[in-house]
Amino acid sequence: MAEEMGRAYQSGFGNEFATEAAPGGLPVGQNSPQRHKLGLYAEQVSGSAFTTPRGQNRRSWMYRIRPSVVHEPYQPFAKQTLLRSGPFDEVPTPPNQMRWNPLPLPMEPTDFVEGITTVGGNGDPATQDGVGIHIYAANASMSTRIFYNADGEMLILPQQGGLRLATECGVLEVKPGMLAVVPRGIKFRVELLEAEARGYICENYGQPFRLPELGPIGANGLANSRDFLTPVAAFEDEEGEFEVVSKFLGRLWTSRYNHSPLDVVAWHGNYAPYMYDMARFNVINTVSFDHPDPSIFTVLTAPSVVSGTANVDFAIFPPRWLVAENTFRPPWFHRNMMNEFMGLIYGEYDAKAEGFLPGGASLHNCMSGHGPDAETFERATAAELQPRKVSDTLAFMFETRMVVRPTRYAMESKILQHEYYECWQGLKRKYTGGNL
Ligand SMILES: [Fe+2]
Repeated sequence: MAEEMGRAYQSGFGNEFATEAAPGGLPVGQNSPQRHKLGLYAEQVSGSAFTTPRGQNRRSWMYRIRPSVVHEPYQPFAKQTLLRSGPFDEVPTPPNQMRWNPLPLPMEPTDFVEGITTVGGNGDPATQDGVGIHIYAANASMSTRIFYNADGEMLILPQQGGLRLATECGVLEVKPGMLAVVPRGIKFRVELLEAEARGYICENYGQPFRLPELGPIGANGLANSRDFLTPVAAFEDEEGEFEVVSKFLGRLWTSRYNHSPLDVVAWHGNYAPYMYDMARFNVINTVSFDHPDPSIFTVLTAPSVVSGTANVDFAIFPPRWLVAENTFRPPWFHRNMMNEFMGLIYGEYDAKAEGFLPGGASLHNCMSGHGPDAETFERATAAELQPRKVSDTLAFMFETRMVVRPTRYAMESKILQHEYYECWQGLKRKYTGGNL
């Protein structure tokens, strides 16, 4: 057990957890007894195929007041939102570098579900491949509305304002600098811990996030398993009108329940939400010269069907010492087969002098050149190299196998920085060799 912000959690990544909020909630020695001691229904939730190899198999047994099947038929969700889903074909995708200002906070009462704006994505939830990339902005808590996403798991990164996630498996509280992952299908309600909230979401249609292999790094380093926290069981025994909003095959649907679906009294298994404080990330980097590739910063990875290639990697650029000798220290100029969506939780990112703001985003797609702006290049090539701490910053990247295709909102709204390309135009010819 571990404690964070006064709340108890179970520690470890993807462990076999067991937790009960009422004594006797967990059957002993079997999953589905003929009669449950407390009158609870046993229900298995499978986050992987039954036949998935043991190391990646994900399932939990829930002991709940009513089984999930008790609800009225789902109807289309009436309210129009800016949530979009794969296939992403609203507008053509240009090969340009793209950058966006922070998403504005809402003026009207807006909860987490209504406040999700999709920036782009790839793949298709119908084939369980690809990602949706979103920014949420909200100023209202959900109350009798509960949400679940059948299309993918949701990696949630608060950038402004903390969130309380009341889930079927218990409660998570996250603030900026922390991440939360809610697995596919798990119901949850988002309450705001402050008046306004904004943050990023990676909706992963593919295989669940896992910790990356460490190879020669050894048994420790990067994100350590023990720092991932999963809630203990907590339930609501409430009758009354509740609404469940489902994201299913790209659309939102709504259904009425006559009780709170967050009624899981006890559960065991390895399919559950979790959170992680990114300040715990053990940064591994060079102590001699040059840069390792940014994969060295991978917190979580979701593999694709192509060996060694992620459906999406989640990498962070946290506070760290820069000590490389005789080295151009900012991220180098680069073109990539993979596709790089970046966001900034707080502080400044060391490749850009200005324009990349907390709550904003950038996108560098397949083979689109990118790298430090002219001002950063001049500064880095002139600098007297001393050990230097990059502090008070947290940028991140969703790096994905398929081209990220922006939504119409991302291409046509006023948050798109049309002048982004100008930051590189000051990179002058410096060649001093002769012509042949
Ligand atoms: Fe890159």
